[in-house]
Amino acid sequence: MADRGRSTLITGIGELTTNDDELGRMRDAAVVVEGDAIAWVGGAADAPAADERVDVGGRAVLPGWVDSHTHLVFAGDRTAEFEARMAGQAYAAGGIAQTVAATRAASDTALAANLDRLADEALRGGTTALETKTGYGLTIADELRSARIAAGRADAVTFLGAHLVPPGWADDGADADAYVDLVAGDMLAAVAPHVDAVDVFCERGAFDEPQSRRVLEAARARGLALRVHGNQLGPGPGVRLAVELGALSVDHVAFLDDEEVALLAESWHGGRGTVATVLPACDLSTRMPLAPARRLLDAGAVVAIATNCNPGTSYTTSMAFCVATAVLQMGLSIEEAVRAATLGGAVALDRDAPRIAADGRALLPLGRIRPGARADLQVLDAPSITHLAYRPGVPLVHAVWRAGSPVVGARPIP
Ligand code: NIG
Repeated sequence: MADRGRSTLITGIGELTTNDDELGRMRDAAVVVEGDAIAWVGGAADAPAADERVDVGGRAVLPGWVDSHTHLVFAGDRTAEFEARMAGQAYAAGGIAQTVAATRAASDTALAANLDRLADEALRGGTTALETKTGYGLTIADELRSARIAAGRADAVTFLGAHLVPPGWADDGADADAYVDLVAGDMLAAVAPHVDAVDVFCERGAFDEPQSRRVLEAARARGLALRVHGNQLGPGPGVRLAVELGALSVDHVAFLDDEEVALLAESWHGGRGTVATVLPACDLSTRMPLAPARRLLDAGAVVAIATNCNPGTSYTTSMAFCVATAVLQMGLSIEEAVRAATLGGAVALDRDAPRIAADGRALLPLGRIRPGARADLQVLDAPSITHLAYRPGVPLVHAVWRAGSPVVGARPIP
């Protein structure tokens, strides 16, 4: 084992979910964490010595959640809109404008504090890696400060200048196209050094196919990864565009025909394809059909589960809620749902293998418990992952390690 720092032996693991094809799901297991990485995984009887030991008392251990789709740089609250929706009003993308106004009016300190509050809430719920997006600024200055606030607070930052044609620009004809020119031109140029990827809300009421393509092609020309919000509110061109342009993920995917499901599956033939990211809490909160995760998996697509935490359509950081919904309502097995919410998210962020960041830092892979991976683990107050769906709504997190540091629970044995 390479010496990366202080080592901790975690024993008493009743059930270990590794997401590793060879290690699989183990009983009576032990894990050694060294510095920020996993150094060893095996049977409890074979465990090597370490600097300290933590016994988790027969509980289940699994990778920390990888939440690959959130919108955490915002201010304000949309309770009234939520209440109206529960009373029967349909969700429309126009609600985004309310958050844009509140975000523009907020100080950097207030935006950072809100992001920290939500990231901390997520961490206490077992989320050890998260992506977040800009998209509530929609001017060069407000998108730039959103990206700067997110960088360093999230594992991945996505530029979403194409979230909505903002107030002050007519949302049709020449004005919308002029806004797209700004997003694909000066706004992208300003924000690019601070982000990993570029996303577009490709939907009726937001951006059409040619407009979305323009932004994504400009991002690709700068070497940035691509994402698409697609097929959320109805059938649309998002999935086809995402696959054609080699996007890392297309997210929402609630309205898919058989051809689109097949396209997503085929995108993985012969290389890295496009992850279909399902957002069950958003589907419920907008009273939309649940995305067809079962059909996607049966066809051979790669699926991720994420929260889409934002103040409009999905105000939750709970990956456990999303996993339980995927099992109870979307027809996934608990193993499939946990894999989609951990390794699936890592694949959607292109973080399932070691990578070198733009600033030269070596990034450890996420989403698996195996030697060499970032030591991101959660311990459930339960004997197996099945309890995540069997006991929905119950806060089951007992302890969390993030990059080797015990951030929730986890007391060493003296
Ligand atoms: O992913 N669909 C677009 N964007 C967000 C919603 C943002 C909002 O309503 O504030 C989403 O659901």
